[in-house]
Amino acid sequence: MTISIRPIEPATRAFFAGDVSGIDLTRPLTQADVAAIAAGMDQFGVLVFHDQHLDDAQQLAFSRNFGALEQATGDIAQGTERRLSMDINDISNLDKNNRILARDDRRRLFGLGNRLWHSDSSFKAVPAKYSLLSARVIPGAGGNTEFADMRAAYDALDDETRALCEGLVCEHSQLFSRATLGFSDFTDHERRRFAPVLQRLVRRHPVTGRKSLFLASHAGAIVGWPVPEARAFLRELTEHATQRKFVYAHVWRQWDLVMWDNRITMHRARPYDHTQVRDMHRTTVACEQSTMDQAA
Ligand SMILES: [Fe+2]
Repeated sequence: MTISIRPIEPATRAFFAGDVSGIDLTRPLTQADVAAIAAGMDQFGVLVFHDQHLDDAQQLAFSRNFGALEQATGDIAQGTERRLSMDINDISNLDKNNRILARDDRRRLFGLGNRLWHSDSSFKAVPAKYSLLSARVIPGAGGNTEFADMRAAYDALDDETRALCEGLVCEHSQLFSRATLGFSDFTDHERRRFAPVLQRLVRRHPVTGRKSLFLASHAGAIVGWPVPEARAFLRELTEHATQRKFVYAHVWRQWDLVMWDNRITMHRARPYDHTQVRDMHRTTVACEQSTMDQAA
């Protein structure tokens, strides 16, 4: 088999994901395969692999080709409450006995934060590089994931706004994103665990050199700015960055593996019937450093 990557027919002009064929992710990859996928990620920001019947061990092995993995410390379910190992973020509506969570279960309500535009783990001092999401069980309809290209969004800013963004530092926390939805049901321990971290608003891709906006619903403050003014500005930037021309909407098939670069994209989940099972497993490759340690 030879790996090939072609653009998915663009619904919009500015951004389209890559469709990868000619590779079986359940098997060990060659160096050439890893290099081709990394190059595809740098070009597209989102890659789609269909018909990949991965189990957790295979997904972990594939993910580790691209760097050290994060632990699922951002999940609200910890310890004995967990259904999956700490190497896997549980993007499902199931409890540890594989039963569908009640509509008002706080784990489900916390998870609804994924419906807001975000970049994975921007609330961690060292945020996520790649996320890899494997669709094990999907509902009959809905539940798309939408991706927005933060490079295109940055490029399309007017000169004045681009200059204003340069050098700004934001505070990111899951406390901010959940508060947007009226979820404040945190324990004192969780409040400490989810304390805000600092991230630059503009970042530069280490390989391509392209600049992008590092936005997320987790961003709730800008250092040195009054909070309402910061939130109004971040909201305006998010509206700009998520115009349809910058967005690719992925319609899931069972056994899709979708891989995205959190440094150059934001994403959000779309609603689905919460009485149907949706079971997605996410592995996450960490960045090598905080955005605060990159050159300004
Ligand atoms: Fe996410």
